[in-house]
Amino acid sequence: MLEVRDLHTYYGESYVLQGVSLRVEKSQVVGILGRNGMGKTTLIRSIIGFTLPRRGQVLFKGRDITGWPSYRSVDLGMGLVPQGRRVFSSLTVIENLTVAARGTGGSWTIERVLDLFPRLRERAEHRAGKLSGGEQQMLAIARALMTNPDLLLMDEPTEGLAPLLVREMGRVIADLKTRGLSILLVEQNLPLALKVADHVHVLSRGRIVHSSAPQALWANEEIKARYLGL
Ligand SMILES: Nc1ncnc2c1ncn2[C@@H]1O[C@H](COP(=O)(O)OP(=O)(O)O)[C@@H](O)[C@H]1O
Ligand SMILES: [Mg+2]
Repeated sequence: MLEVRDLHTYYGESYVLQGVSLRVEKSQVVGILGRNGMGKTTLIRSIIGFTLPRRGQVLFKGRDITGWPSYRSVDLGMGLVPQGRRVFSSLTVIENLTVAARGTGGSWTIERVLDLFPRLRERAEHRAGKLSGGEQQMLAIARALMTNPDLLLMDEPTEGLAPLLVREMGRVIADLKTRGLSILLVEQNLPLALKVADHVHVLSRGRIVHSSAPQALWANEEIKARYLGL
């Protein structure tokens, strides 16, 4: 579904991604872990085309999409749940979903996303800015689903959420996976990432410093202490 090959990304002279490679297979959840400032969001931005990598390739569904504007990648089936949610706070839930809808023929409709998030159905006519953090996060995911993606890039979906909502988020991610979605999941919540991911990578200073099955990371005290502060 997604292959990132030796990606190098800069902000001006600041060398942030220093050769990142990874793959996400169909219906797979791949977790990216790492402390703040290590390049996780930059990786997401480089994949979807917000920031152009200086070197390396991004392949999506077998096509080289390196340098494509993000709307073309979205048209090809890439969805983004950005860090910090970034819903339109002055629009209602329904309006947020309506403006995100793309094309026809996809299987996600407003009805279907509201089935997935019953809480959003109750709040359908509320302005997004009035929702709780957890509800806004659900809306950010619902909005991304409205583009009918095959691959979802999720950037810290549990950031700032209460433990109960973190668990709910785990359920949602597992549900999306069983529906066939592929997910690249940036997470700082290790237990959640380990619960839903098929494979995990640890990012430190723009490089992947550990890759394994989730259980192997859980058991690796040295990596957890050194790169995740646990
Ligand atoms: N727009 C930007 N311009 C310059 N530097 C940036 C920008 N965005 C992020 N950075 C820097 O790039 C590094 C990686 O940031 P980021 O990818 O946001 O990390 P993470 O998502 O892992 O917290 C940090 O040192 C950050 O300060
Ligand atoms: Mg980030």
